[in-house]
Amino acid sequence: MRLDKLLSNMGFGSRKEVKILVKGQAVKVDGEVVRDVTKHVDPDAQAVTVYGERVLYQEFIYLMMHKPPGVISATEDKHDQTVIDLLDPFHVQFEPFPVGRLDKDTEGFLLITNDGQLTHNLLSPKKHVPKVYYAKIDGKVEQADIDAFAEGVTLEDGYHTKPGKLKILKAGEESEIELEISEGKFHQVKRMFEAVDKKVTYLKRLSMGPLELDKDLALGEYRELTEDELNLLKQ
Ligand code: URA
Repeated sequence: MRLDKLLSNMGFGSRKEVKILVKGQAVKVDGEVVRDVTKHVDPDAQAVTVYGERVLYQEFIYLMMHKPPGVISATEDKHDQTVIDLLDPFHVQFEPFPVGRLDKDTEGFLLITNDGQLTHNLLSPKKHVPKVYYAKIDGKVEQADIDAFAEGVTLEDGYHTKPGKLKILKAGEESEIELEISEGKFHQVKRMFEAVDKKVTYLKRLSMGPLELDKDLALGEYRELTEDELNLLKQ
């Protein structure tokens, strides 16, 4: 990888700023001052230092975002703001993408990473990664719905879903529920409720696999995963 890309990725500024560092003889590779910013280095095999401090190269980033409504789960879009538009330039440089999708109007836990293998594992239908949602429902959610979801429901396109664990948090004409599902079909939660003649009016994802949305993250905020969270996710 080019030295200027590596240093820029690791937060040493733009390529132009990195060039100034290199010109000032601040950067060494294996103890030798480097003069050419385009030099190719292997961050695993070579020691890169800036002002004598070792630069530890990080290839992947893992971010937990509290996705706000009105923003789409994509890397770019002509019309709408995307979740990537909410990131600092430092994180954008890693070219991350959202792991799966939340609808434009859905809020809550969204993992954003550039680790394709982890993404594949989390989204693979074979892995059955559980996702828990909180929703407000226009309609009276009852025991019959809990039973129906436990069996799986048939969506309007004929697909029969895997079982979902439905919990009623507040009963009434406007119900509040929690639903755990292990699939990620398009608009799945909304369509499961449509299958029992009810309408989701608010939807928020609370967790994905072993990770819960950090309650300290306000809508639109994000943070890097901790080592422990990352280990849990990779198990
Ligand atoms: N199910 C939905 O209907 N929408 C989402 O955003 C996520 C799950």
